[in-house]
Formats: sequence, C-alpha cells, structure tokens
Amino acid sequence: MIIQPKTRGFICITSHPEGCAKNVQNQIDYIKSKSPIDGAKNVLVIGASTGFGLASRITSAFGENASTIGVFFEKPPAEGRTASSGWYNTAAFEEQAHKAGLYAKSINGDAFSNEIKEQTAQLIKKDLGKIDLVIYSLASPVRTHPETGVRYKSTLKPIGNTYTNKTVDFHTGEVKEISIEACTEEDIVNTVTVMGGEDWQMWIDKLKKEGLLADNFKTVAYSYIGPKLTEPVYRKGTIGKAKDHLEATAFTITDALKDIKGKAFVSVNKALVTQSSSAIPVIPLYISLLYKVMKEKNLQEGCIEQIYRLFKERLYLGEIPVDSEGRIRIDDLEMRDDIQEKVAQLWEEATTESLPEIGDLEGYKDEFFNLFGFNFDGIDYEKDTNEMVSIPGLQ
Ligand code: NAI
Ligand code: NA
Repeated sequence: MIIQPKTRGFICITSHPEGCAKNVQNQIDYIKSKSPIDGAKNVLVIGASTGFGLASRITSAFGENASTIGVFFEKPPAEGRTASSGWYNTAAFEEQAHKAGLYAKSINGDAFSNEIKEQTAQLIKKDLGKIDLVIYSLASPVRTHPETGVRYKSTLKPIGNTYTNKTVDFHTGEVKEISIEACTEEDIVNTVTVMGGEDWQMWIDKLKKEGLLADNFKTVAYSYIGPKLTEPVYRKGTIGKAKDHLEATAFTITDALKDIKGKAFVSVNKALVTQSSSAIPVIPLYISLLYKVMKEKNLQEGCIEQIYRLFKERLYLGEIPVDSEGRIRIDDLEMRDDIQEKVAQLWEEATTESLPEIGDLEGYKDEFFNLFGFNFDGIDYEKDTNEMVSIPGLQ
C-alpha cells in the first residue's frame, strides 16, 4: 500500500516500514562509527522497540556485540493497515543483527504481566543462560496490576495548584496558554503505580529467583529532571512522583542483589522527541527551544548519541560516576547553565509568530515524523510498499 502520515491528536497512526528501517540503520551506522564498548554480553531490554529502549538495544548489539532480547508492546500489521513503528523498527533491527551474526529475539506483549515475565525468563534460560544487563525503558499510560487485575492510569498533572503556562501545538505551530488542573491524591497513586519502580523490581526479582542474573549484573532505568520551567507539570507533578519512586527503587534493587554484586541505576536522560514526550503538555515547546539552542552550540544529541555516551562514558567505566542522589547523569549538556539561561529567555519571547525563528519547530516536527518512518530522504513515499512485515526473531 501507499503509506502516508495520518495524525490523530498528537500521535501518528500510520508508520512506514522502509522509513523505520532507515531510522534504525542510521542508528546502527552511528554506533558502528564509534569505538566499541567492552560491556555486557547478554542484554534484556524492556521497552526495546522505540525511543531510548531501541537505542539501548542497538548500542548493546552493534557497540558491544551483545545478544539481545527485546520486550515491547506493538501492533502487528494487518492487510491494509500498517503496524506501529516499534514493530517495523524491531523487524529492521533484527534483520541487521542476524546479518551481523548476532543473537536477537523479541517478545511482544504486556511487560507488566506475569505471563510475559515468565515467557522472557524461559527464553533467557533456554538461549542465553544468564544476562548481565537489563535496561528498563517502559513508557506507558496504563498498567494492569498482575496481582489484583486492577488497571491503573497515569496522569500528567501538577500537584497542589493549577498550572498555567505556554505550550505549542507542533502540528500547527500555534503557541497558546494552557491550564492544567491540580491532580487528586488518587492520580498520584495511580501514576506511581504505572510509571514508578514496582514493575522494574518485579522483573529483577523474577529473573533473580530463576537464577538468570550473572555476577556483577547491572540494571538501568531511565528518568528525567528538566528545568524549573516544566517542574510543576513534570518533576514536581504526578509523573515526577513516579520518577522519585523509580529512583528510590534503584537502591532497593541494589540491596537485593548484594550476593551477586549486582547494581541498579537510574540514568537521567535528556529531553527528546519520542512518542511519549510528545504527549506531555508544555514539553514540546521546551524541546523546540532546547533543540535550537543545543544545535547552535553543537551539543545536540538524539537517543542513540545519549545511550552510546551512557554505555561508553558511564556504565562501563571502572567507577560509575553518579550525582549526589546516586543517579547517572547524561542530561549534563541539557542542564548546563548557559543552555538553560538561553532557553528561559527564549521562553519569554515565544509566540506563534516568533517560534519558527527562535525555536526549532521544524526540527521538532521532522523528528516526530521520523519516529514513524516519515520525512526521510531517499524514500519514495508515493511508492507502493509492503506493510506486512514480520519480525524474524519474534517468539
Ligand atoms: P517510547 O514511547 O519511545 O518507548 C516506550 C517503550 O515501552 C516502547 O518500546 C513500547 O513498546 C514499550 N511499552 C509501553 N507499554 C508497554 C507494555 N505494557 N508492555 C511492554 N512494552 C511496553 O518512550 P521513551 O521516551 O523512550 O521513554 C522510555 C523511558 O525514558 C521512560 O521511562 C521515560 O520517562 C524516560 N525518559 C524519556 C525522556 C524523553 O524526553 N523522551 C527523557 C528522559 C527519560
Ligand atoms: Na523506549
């Protein structure tokens, strides 16, 4: 079929298999252009199909020659309907990994469930024996609790007071004010249940109980802090409470891994255009200003540059550098004073009229469509393409 972008609200409901393959290939090429990493040999990535998780899988495979198992929740294609982009990304990744002689298998299903944890444990046992690294990179608006069957929904709300600030509809370029009402106590509990550390801990407990974690095992989950500007809706909002919980869970997990000298870390990453961040109010305006400033200073990084740096310059150094809260920081460039001061100044100036000049709205849009395989040079989007792509190592 001929596949064009079709947006609904903030998401794109179509994706292009060749474009997704190109996105993956670009990331593989980047990793191959860098010096190899002496790191993990067997890696499990939970949330492996898009964003930071996909970049983690690519870095593990092509930067460390690791065998990888990827877990994700993606929609397969149907006749006349495209798959979700993470499906096509994974198909392309596995094809390249297998060509390079690397083990790569995937599991598509709800990572929060006991069934998917069990299936993953069995696959590790059968094929890999033990794993040295688990990357936890889930971003989900809902979680069905495996013990109670209760379905929790996360929210992106401020705590205490209504928050009013500017935001941009990046599809139209309109900058306008929005107000987000303060959350309820229940919203906090729900968001922590979905995006906090409980499920991460359940994964590690399960794998440890099954004897699948190697000595010196490491696990990393991803967090975000960001600037003062977005604090009410991010770090001091409902999602921030979940990130606090995730960060605290790293210490709980480390305690439980003492006998195998295992360690759990949270890595604080940079703000980037992903399917998840596009859905957060205010953040797209911040990102479009941030990109402009970081590109001007030649400091811009995407998911793959971030994760390469995480592995090469943090995770596999003898002593892992952490901040005063024990967190790995790869948001160091984003958080630099000169960058934040400039972004704060541009924030004041941002209007519908000025944003195309002072912000990187085009860059934002381009990256957003790239997530779904669109806007890539060298791909003919008028041409018929086969949507029925399968994932070679899907279990
Ligand atoms: P993303 O939306 O690109 O990736 C989410 C992944 O989770 C996908 O692989 C998806 O298939 C998987 N997933 C979602 N629900 C699932 C389920 N029930 N079962 C199995 N897999 C499921 O998101 P992104 O942005 O890469 O986020 C990953 C982590 O990085 C999150 O914890 C996020 O908070 C964090 N982060 C994101 C930043 C950003 O600016 N995008 C910045 C710093 C941290
Ligand atoms: Na991810």
